[in-house]
Order: sequence, then C-alpha cells, then structure tokens
Amino acid sequence: MTQTLTILGLESSCDDTAAAVVRQTGDAPAEVLSSVVFGQTELHSAYGGVVPEIAARAHAGKLDICVIEALKEAGVTLKDLDAVAVTAGPGLIGGVMSGVMCAKGIAAATGLPLIGVNHLAGHALTPRLTDGIAFPYLMLLVSGGHCQYLIVRGPEDFTRLGGTIDDAPGEAFDKTARLLGLPQPGGPSVQAEAENGDPKRFRFPRPLLDRPDCNLSFSGLKTALMRMRDQIVAEKGGLTRQDRADLCAGFQAAVVDTLAEKTRRALRLYLDENPASPTVAVAGGVAANTAIRAALQDVCAEAGATFTAPPLRLCTDNAAMIAYAGLERFRSGARDGLDLTARPRWPLDQSSPALLGSGKKGAKA
Ligand code: KG4
Ligand code: ZN
Repeated sequence: MTQTLTILGLESSCDDTAAAVVRQTGDAPAEVLSSVVFGQTELHSAYGGVVPEIAARAHAGKLDICVIEALKEAGVTLKDLDAVAVTAGPGLIGGVMSGVMCAKGIAAATGLPLIGVNHLAGHALTPRLTDGIAFPYLMLLVSGGHCQYLIVRGPEDFTRLGGTIDDAPGEAFDKTARLLGLPQPGGPSVQAEAENGDPKRFRFPRPLLDRPDCNLSFSGLKTALMRMRDQIVAEKGGLTRQDRADLCAGFQAAVVDTLAEKTRRALRLYLDENPASPTVAVAGGVAANTAIRAALQDVCAEAGATFTAPPLRLCTDNAAMIAYAGLERFRSGARDGLDLTARPRWPLDQSSPALLGSGKKGAKA
C-alpha cells in the first residue's frame, strides 16, 4: 500500500525558529512543501554568542507565526497533516521547551500524533530526504557545535565511530577569524582569505593523527595560530594582508588534512561491513567549505564510495529535517504522548562512551 504522509516539523533548539511541511508517498522521494526559518543572529550579535534566555523568548514569540507561514506556503491546513514532529533535544533547554510546548498544543487541539525528534538525527537523516540514499551510510556531521562520524543504519539506529574531543571545526574557524580580526561567521571569511594564501608558510599541527581512532581535536590549532600571530606582530609590529591570508591558508590546510585522514579511517571501518552501496554524506555548516568538500570527495573516490552533501539550506539548522526524521519515526510506528520531555543532552549513540568535549561546547548542534 502506498500511504501518503504529510508531517509538520518544528525546530527551536538553538538560534533558528523553524517550521516546515514534508510529504512522502510510499517509497517515492520525499518533498519539502515548505521550510520557513526565522534566524535570530541580530538578537545575539552584541553578546558574541547565543544568549539562551533571549533565544527562548524569541522562539516562544515566533513559533506560532512560523507554523502559520509554513502551512500557508505548503498550501495545507492542520486537517491535511498526519502528525506533528518537534525537536525534543539536544539543545538549549528553554528553546527546546518552547518548541515542545507549541507542538503539544497543536497535538492536543487537533488530536494529531506527536513525534519527538533528536535534532542530530534530523541532520543525520537529511541525505535520505534530499537524495533518498539507502541505509547504512557513513555520515560526517560538521557544524559550529558538532563534529562526529556516524554509521546511520536506521531512523533510530546510529553507531558513532568518533568525533571531536574539544572544539568543533566551525568553532575553530570562528575563533580563527576573531583572532585575525575577520568578520563572523568565521568559516566563509577564513575560506576567502585562504584562497590568496600560501598554506605552506606556516606549519600547523595535525592533531591526533598519530592515534589510530576516528577522534579529532581542533582546539590546538587556535593556540598555534595565536602564537604565530603574536610572533609576527612582535617582529613587524602588525599583520599584513598576506600574513593574514597565509595564516588562514595554513589553518584551513590543517583542518582539511585532519578531516581527510580521519574520514579515510572511518570509511575503512564502514566498508569492513560490506555495505551494498557505499555512501558518505556530510552535513552541517562547515560542509559549505569548498576545500573540505573537495578533499572528502577525493577520499571517497579513492575508496570507491559515493559522496553526497545536501544543499546548504538543508545542511544548516532547519525544520524540514525534523519533519522528515519525524516521518521516518512515524512510519516505523513510533508515537510520543503529551508527556514528551525536552532533553538538553541526548546522544544519538547511547552505547558508545561519551567524548570529552563533543557537543558540550558551542550552542549549536
Ligand atoms: O550548521 P551551522 O549553520 O550551525 C551549527 O553550528 O549548527 O554551522 C555554522 C558553522 C559556523 O561555525 C561557520 O563558521 C561554519 O559553519 N561555516 C564554515 C563555512 N561556512 C559556514 N566553515 C568553514 N568554511 C565555510 N565556508
Ligand atoms: Zn544543528
């Protein structure tokens, strides 16, 4: 039987208030009928980071408007929906609670089933929404708050192979930009500078490459950068445009090499399981980096695996990924009650030991 499912998704775990409607008929490709995102960047810009209280209040004030807009854009009403899915964690607890309360209100008023979704599962399942790729696939999630390798086996079946033990790569790009006086977000500005720089002039460390596992560390890069910057300033009294470009190029080359080598190792573990159609997917804001993408593509080509990256608007925080992850859970029979709770911490792979810093730094996931 080819059942059509139409799911409303809500996302409010960090600084984006989002609502979306996703539809799928049987095994046909899922369709994003609408995806509305209200960012909060300007509310937090004066504070140098996301302020949880401000974020929670803004979510509470905008969620209903966001839902109305998403339904309107999709051309559906609440009566056309089969369920309402909501990010139930991990994230900033006030924001997650705002979303969960809003979804519960809709479920209570309409009688629609409620589905709690793990935000990271939303990111990890996005390549199925955009490209319909089959389980199991290898996922590299790289954002401002996260960095992990996952074998995705099913909508609720993830094995973490490794991840960062301190900073996430996006955080490292942002800090590098701050240290060099470049604009935020740091990723795009560092990438642009690096294009005119010599990656060999400064030698940055390649952390944890001496260890055989898939764990990564990025906080040492920032310390190395600070030392190099201070040395140039001490010698010459300031940084030239070329110094800045060379520092960015050296830093980016270190991130690229580290991610490429750890991806090689993660791929080996994944390929040992003989997946029918080996696929590596990447998601998160850092996936926008063209040097990182190119390196990952090469690593996949070497190993005979397909490389895929969702379009950026679905790589960064959005509610279409939550609606889709909810749809997959709904299909597998999962339902949550009105006692669904918001969880600030919620690792995808509950059986692997917690990493030191993974997911504990940076507001975003
Ligand atoms: O996924 P995202 O929008 O938010 C979360 O962290 O969840 O990712 C934002 C991060 C920021 O740290 C930003 O600097 C980084 O992604 N980023 C990049 C690039 N574009 C965005 N990092 C490296 N190169 C880029 N081109
Ligand atoms: Zn996220």
